[in-house]
Amino acid sequence: MTTLVDDAVAYLRPRIGGDIDLAVVLGTGLGGFAEAVPDPVEVPYADIPGFPQGNVTGHAHRVVAGVLEGRRILVLQGRSHYYETGDAAIMRTPIETLKRLGVSTLLLTNAAGSLKRDIQPGQLCLISDHINLSGTNPLIGDRGDGRFVPMNDAYSPRLRQRMKRAAMSAGVRVHEGVYCWMSGPSFETPAEIKMIRNLGADLVGMSTVPETILARRFGMDVIAVSIVTNFGAGLETAAAPSHEETKQVASTGGIALRRLLNAFLKGLDDVT
Ligand code: HPA
Repeated sequence: MTTLVDDAVAYLRPRIGGDIDLAVVLGTGLGGFAEAVPDPVEVPYADIPGFPQGNVTGHAHRVVAGVLEGRRILVLQGRSHYYETGDAAIMRTPIETLKRLGVSTLLLTNAAGSLKRDIQPGQLCLISDHINLSGTNPLIGDRGDGRFVPMNDAYSPRLRQRMKRAAMSAGVRVHEGVYCWMSGPSFETPAEIKMIRNLGADLVGMSTVPETILARRFGMDVIAVSIVTNFGAGLETAAAPSHEETKQVASTGGIALRRLLNAFLKGLDDVT
């Protein structure tokens, strides 16, 4: 009997061509990166067995494959979130499919709130580590010893170094910080933001962490970049966060992200 992952791999492999150097998951409002891929192969998630179709505006929900800066990339343009269905493993089939297609490096992007004054809306922040305050885990119900995944260095120090070098060469400023996963979809209260800050987080958001856990489960190296769209509730500005703001600021800041990712792709073969 074949699984959904077998079926997804069988469907995608002949369409996307050869080996993939890097897979990228695009967060809210960041779809512009996929639009920059010349002569792309585009496959709607709806056509791929087990790929979630999603119900959040700001995500296109298709796979885009192509060559950028001489590297073969596979972009997941749009993700599904835990809050859409209550299934923390909603991205399991796409992530496992990437692994089965031979992807060894996964770059995750997202829109996030900032908890630090110097990490400002419109700016980029590499994720160095995370705090999972969602109360769940995408590996709950998984079988076998492989589920006990170590999370030390979940965000590859080697790839973070490369990303910092890419930022220098592209002239793009990147911060580095700890990302806290909250379930959403409601934004945090000011009291929750204060708590998360005291716990040591620099960013807050509703995604990425389950995908990192799944990618580590399947043995992939992970690098993650947030585009900061707002300060956390109750900080700095009186305005309440909104999804409109998230989409708008992410798509403006996405231009810097695109420059950064292009430079990262260029440096992908560097020895260290
Ligand atoms: N909180 C949670 N998720 C987010 C935020 C936020 O302030 N901004 C963008 N995604």
